[in-house]
Amino acid sequence: MIFPTAKAINTTQLEAFLHLIGERIGLKFLSGDSKRVVDALNRRMGEFSFSNPEEYFQLLSAADAVSGLEWEQLAIHLINGETYFFRDQGQFFLLETRILPELIQNRVLERKLRIWSAGCATGEEPYSIAILIDKLLPGQKDWDIRIQGTDLNGDFLVKAEKGIYGQNSFRGTDPAIKDRYFKSIRKETWALRDPVRKMVTFQCLNLRNKNWDALSGTQFDLILCRNVFIYFNPKASALTANQFSGFLREDGYLVTGHGELDKRKLKNLHSVLYPESVVYKPGEQKITQTSSAKPDFNSEMIAPEPPKPAPNPISLIHNSSHRESRPAGVFNPVVRPNRRTTSAPGEQEERPDTTTEPDSSTLLKRASLLANRGAYDEARKVCSQALKNDPLAFDFYYLLAQIAREIGDVD
Ligand SMILES: C[S@@+](CC[C@H](N)C(=O)[O-])C[C@H]1O[C@@H](n2cnc3c(N)ncnc32)[C@H](O)[C@@H]1O
Repeated sequence: MIFPTAKAINTTQLEAFLHLIGERIGLKFLSGDSKRVVDALNRRMGEFSFSNPEEYFQLLSAADAVSGLEWEQLAIHLINGETYFFRDQGQFFLLETRILPELIQNRVLERKLRIWSAGCATGEEPYSIAILIDKLLPGQKDWDIRIQGTDLNGDFLVKAEKGIYGQNSFRGTDPAIKDRYFKSIRKETWALRDPVRKMVTFQCLNLRNKNWDALSGTQFDLILCRNVFIYFNPKASALTANQFSGFLREDGYLVTGHGELDKRKLKNLHSVLYPESVVYKPGEQKITQTSSAKPDFNSEMIAPEPPKPAPNPISLIHNSSHRESRPAGVFNPVVRPNRRTTSAPGEQEERPDTTTEPDSSTLLKRASLLANRGAYDEARKVCSQALKNDPLAFDFYYLLAQIAREIGDVD
């Protein structure tokens, strides 16, 4: 449902919003996206009962915690989560026949693989990787394999965790894979079978934050970030790609959507050209042209070759199970929908809004919004500020009592 605002957004205002969105969270839009942007802005304005787009613009322009939270919500509404299993058959062929077998071979002594699907939406992408790994290493017996899916949108992650999908998610799936890895649970609905479902854990993470604390300390063998950079402007996508390089092992791979990093200034990442796709590896640019085709000026080109057979699974198996020895921490299945940060995408710290002195009703809206999103400390601070201005503003006492009950602090 679209919440209409009293005043429609005019063209000048839309341009101002688009500029602000690009500046603050690095999202870019094409002219055909206007309706989607206006719908998203209307939904969010409806949430605040704003009667004038300027009020919402002011909220977004502020540099406080409410603005930070609101940017995340707006971003969720602006970006779609279109995805399906084995989306882009060429890239999955490359992963199955070349990249994953190579990584498995390189890790044959360690028996450990770390994979990250960044911007995984409802989970089809990381689960597709889990299926490929199960095909290459049946049962993955003594391997410690962790596949991490992350997304900005907590609602998508809740769905991803369940592993239940409708027909639309199987657009690119071989029916034999569907039969083997999914069970039909009702009409047109399938649930992913457990061994593969449990290979993947999910976590909320905004790629535009400067720190990815939740993943710090992990070095990945493979990072997939596909069909996500399309929403970022060139500067934001280069920054994010360069950030990925710090999370890759020396011989690891970054796989993006086609052309998503073309002409970006990449530091410590170089492109490798396969017939199916360009992929990226850490390290300086190399030129090892092996084909008469005109090379990308700083790409390594890999000539097509027949698919390598997967490493013999029998030779890769010994006794213990990896699941029990999994350490606590990064890969615990934490899903924190929409309630874990007070920073705007791309920002690190909350800064006080010193531009205006908000009135009591604005403060109450802010405090309620923060409390609704679980940012209880911030909500309490706003209540205290309001009560300093007006000690008889009972609404804030009521809200403080509600927060205390919510967090079990009833003294
Ligand atoms: C079109 S889907 C792509 C899903 C999957 N990677 C694929 O290719 O099928 C884009 C996803 O990126 C997520 N996303 C966009 N911006 C993000 C950000 N700043 N941080 C984390 N996820 C983001 C969206 O929430 C959405 O789920």
